Amino acid sequence: MNVFIAGGTSGMGYALALHYLKKGYDVGICGRNPEKVPENCPENLNIFQADVSEPASIDTAVQFFLKGGKSLDIFINCAGSYAEDVAGKISYEEAEEMLQTNVLGTVNCFETARKAMRKQNKGSIAVIASVSGILEYEKSSLYTKTKRSVIQMADAYRRALKPFGISVTAIAPGYVDTEKLRQLNNHDLGKKPFLTDVETAVAIISTAIEKQEKLVIFPVKMKWLMKSLSLLPSSLLNMIMFRKARWMKDDPN
Ligand SMILES: NC(=O)c1ccc[n+]([C@@H]2O[C@H](COP(=O)([O-])OP(=O)(O)OC[C@H]3O[C@@H](n4cnc5c(N)ncnc54)[C@H](OP(=O)(O)O)[C@@H]3O)[C@@H](O)[C@H]2O)c1
Repeated sequence: MNVFIAGGTSGMGYALALHYLKKGYDVGICGRNPEKVPENCPENLNIFQADVSEPASIDTAVQFFLKGGKSLDIFINCAGSYAEDVAGKISYEEAEEMLQTNVLGTVNCFETARKAMRKQNKGSIAVIASVSGILEYEKSSLYTKTKRSVIQMADAYRRALKPFGISVTAIAPGYVDTEKLRQLNNHDLGKKPFLTDVETAVAIISTAIEKQEKLVIFPVKMKWLMKSLSLLPSSLLNMIMFRKARWMKDDPN
């Protein structure tokens, strides 16, 4: 089996790469900064430099990985960009990077994977969204809105690709204990409820892909919390989520 992971140079993507290597699969990963990959990474890991926001970049990386006529069995897009957005306090550049990576990058990954899998009549594509994208409310952050769009793009591609034997799985994780999450929170994850470790996340994601599930929200407690919140009137939901975001960031404004 051949697996390509966009956004595989760190965090969940890299952990998924190690998981598939252990199973004996041929694995390719990419990111903008391949030097991030740990020096002790397995020698047979194929590492590429590619930016998902540029179609030619991700396309070329996947074509290199598949050279010699290999099939693309699994494509996972883990690439994501996050900037703190309480009360809309983000810069133009941060917003641009989130839109380009999370929205445009998702489309580019789907297009690259779709083209590679089209002639095979089989394949699995998975995208990592976020549990925050499950809820629909006006004042959600830009990150949340981009991740909601990832879930909706997955719905559209699932419908379009089903006749060609290609499955699409959207993954909506709650908080996962990656180095990136720690950096974003000054290494204090005390305010992150239902935190999941990376190994558990990898097991859930890989099983969901294998079973060709449509949407997986984890952990279960977070899934039920989101389902309960989604029943609230939008004005109340807006207020609760805004206060929660400020509390998490110790933002008094
Ligand atoms: N950790 C959590 O709690 C959590 C919760 C919900 C959802 N998520 C989502 O899960 C995914 C993985 O998160 P993580 O915590 O494992 O973070 P991470 O370690 O920062 O992983 C993100 C990966 O994406 C790559 N990347 C970012 N922008 C890219 C671009 N334009 N082109 C190509 N690669 C790019 C990064 O590598 P380079 O820097 O080398 O480009 C890195 O390999 C993200 O989409 C994130 O939004 C995370």
